[in-house]
Amino acid sequence: RIFPDRTEASRTLALELAALIRTINESGRPAVLGLATGRTPLPFYGELIRLHREGQLSFAKVITFNLDEYLGLPGNHPESYRAFMRRELFDHVDIPAENLNIPDGMVPPEALEAHCAAYEELIRAAGGIDFQLLGIGRTGHIGFNEPGSPRGSRTRKVELDPITRQDAAPAFGGLENVPEYAISMGCGTILEARRIALLAWGAAKADIVKEALTGPVTDQVSASFLQEHQDATFYLDAEAGSKL
Ligand code: GLP
Repeated sequence: RIFPDRTEASRTLALELAALIRTINESGRPAVLGLATGRTPLPFYGELIRLHREGQLSFAKVITFNLDEYLGLPGNHPESYRAFMRRELFDHVDIPAENLNIPDGMVPPEALEAHCAAYEELIRAAGGIDFQLLGIGRTGHIGFNEPGSPRGSRTRKVELDPITRQDAAPAFGGLENVPEYAISMGCGTILEARRIALLAWGAAKADIVKEALTGPVTDQVSASFLQEHQDATFYLDAEAGSKL
């Protein structure tokens, strides 16, 4: 779906998600959301906060799982995804602290495998993800599933692609400060979500959006796996959709 701009795309999806959360809550259970970081979801989180302030959306019965976290960053590091989520969404809505799940970037190496398995188990125990939000990296990654991530991959330690680290360098004040590894949900984890929305804005994403949507389904572009999902939609602004 191509919108004139990111504001309209974000507003549309925020209203759709608010309706979904209400429907699920009315059926008597919490809604389970998979959340993403990066610059892309910012206008979308802004719209969710606005709907919350207007009394149209409550997060009281929402459980969240974030896609990924940098390895080696403590939760109070401003570039950690934990800090990002607090700043951009969680601090502004009525979500209970115990409902928030983000991989722990400070998990010691010997506990990493168990931590990733426990994360998968928490998702299963919550009933699976109802709605998964995604951005897309210039390498075609979703979460931090860089080229070569198998379709069936699960939550695990991943090595960041040089392009991804370059893109993150300004925020970290230099490439040397960007972590080399992260914990990320796998492609398999993501593809099990019942509904998926991928957001992309701006001309810099136009080529990879085209590749993901119309190129071959390949582990070299993990977003291409979405072509085979039964309910996945790309929400694009005119620039990101300009090559389609
Ligand atoms: C990071 C995140 C991804 C995100 C991507 C794009 O790699 N792990 O989830 O989609 O960046 O970032 P941006 O939205 O800032 O372009």
